[in-house]
Amino acid sequence: MSARKLSRRAFLKTAGLALGASALACGGLGIAASRRPEIDFIQSTYGKENPVGNHVLITYATKAGSTAEVADVIGQTLAARGFQVDVRPVRDNPSLDGYQAVIVGSPIRMGNWLDEAVEFVRANQARMSGMPAALFTVHLENLANDENSRAARQAYTAPLRELLPGASEAFFAGNMDPAKLPLIERLLVRAMASQTGLPVGDQRDWEQIRAWANEVFA
Ligand SMILES: Cc1cc2nc3c(=O)[nH]c(=O)nc-3n(C[C@H](O)[C@H](O)[C@H](O)COP(=O)(O)O)c2cc1C
Repeated sequence: MSARKLSRRAFLKTAGLALGASALACGGLGIAASRRPEIDFIQSTYGKENPVGNHVLITYATKAGSTAEVADVIGQTLAARGFQVDVRPVRDNPSLDGYQAVIVGSPIRMGNWLDEAVEFVRANQARMSGMPAALFTVHLENLANDENSRAARQAYTAPLRELLPGASEAFFAGNMDPAKLPLIERLLVRAMASQTGLPVGDQRDWEQIRAWANEVFA
């Protein structure tokens, strides 16, 4: 998960908290502990209908909403470049019909893209391979620019690269807002924050996100 190694004591503490959280989930408090605060699954459309046919689908997975906001800003930036853009949650399984390019985004949870986003790429692999496609990942560990951090974040999307070797890729720092997490995840995150240095708070760099959206599909 992290490029940083956990000490044995730290590992046991994190594992203990994770186990405690699971026990809570399985016990009587489970429903309350895993209740997710309401999240805005943004659906937006930007840009004018365009006869040249530069219609882009941006579809994203999210648990706490920050990836949806990143997808939305990418959409606004592409529209300013003249693209017509639809931003849609991947859980709605949007069709690729009528689009000339597609961007898929997901946050990282416990070292992986969310399943629904991976599933979308898998299900649409054949069509996505024949069109301009890009992937973006939102995460909070392995953000630095040293070799280890780069390798660790590349590992997050290795299964996706196998499916879409030609896709452009971007990695963006995310947001950890405990208020947007169910109790059970707040406990887990507290353990991860103290043991692996997972940062809490909004680390998103909107300049970097807009810069990428200004050059993707150039
Ligand atoms: C339970 C949990 C596990 C996480 N695991 C990782 C991880 O393994 N690696 C990482 O870089 N970030 C991890 N993160 C940070 C998220 O990727 C980051 O908060 C992201 O912005 C969340 O996106 P969302 O708001 O769209 O769900 C984790 C966050 C949570 C709440």
